[in-house]
Amino acid sequence: MIVIEGIVEQGDQRGRLLGFPTANIPLDSEEVDDGVWGAIVRIEPDRWVPAAVSIGCRRTFYAESGQRVLEAHLLYFNEELYGRRIRVELATKLRPQRTFDTTEALTEQLHQDVQRVLEWSLTHFPAFPSHNRRECSAVARQTLSNAS
Ligand SMILES: Cc1cc2nc3c(=O)[nH]c(=O)nc-3n(C[C@H](O)[C@H](O)[C@H](O)COP(=O)(O)O)c2cc1C
Repeated sequence: MIVIEGIVEQGDQRGRLLGFPTANIPLDSEEVDDGVWGAIVRIEPDRWVPAAVSIGCRRTFYAESGQRVLEAHLLYFNEELYGRRIRVELATKLRPQRTFDTTEALTEQLHQDVQRVLEWSLTHFPAFPSHNRRECSAVARQTLSNAS
C-alpha cells in the first residue's frame, strides 16, 4: 500500500464548483504514478475517511504544465482541512488520468469514481472506525437502493 502524508493546501477552488471539493497535497516525489485511486485518509489519530484520490497535473485544465498534486475528495465530508497534516493510504487503483473534452464529462466521471469508492469502502471496511462511516453507509444504502 502506498502511503503519502502532507499538509493540506488551498487548491484552485474549482473542485467546489464541480461538486467535488478536494483536500490538496503537493507532491514532490516520483514515488507514485499518476492515476485515480480508492483510498483511506486519516484526518485525526482515530478518524479515517474513505476518499477518491487523484494524482496528476489536472491535465483537463492545465495540459501537462500544471503542478503535480494529490487531491483527495473525502466522501460525505465537508469540514475544513487547510493547514492540517493528513495521511493518505492509496488502496486500490481505479483508472489512469484522462484529459476530458468538457467539464461536464469530467464531472460525470467523478460521479462514477466516487460511487466505486463508496462501494469499495463498504465492502472492505465494514467496521470503519469513523463516525463518517455511519453517515457514509446511510447515504450509500440510499444511493444504491435508488440505483437498483
Ligand atoms: C477522484 C478524482 C479524479 C480526477 N480525475 C481527473 C482526470 O482524470 N483528469 C483531470 O484532468 N483531472 C482530474 N481530477 C482533478 C480535477 O480536475 C480537479 O479536482 C478539479 O480541477 C479541481 O481542482 P482544484 O482542487 O485545484 O480546485 C480528478 C479529481 C478527483 C477528485
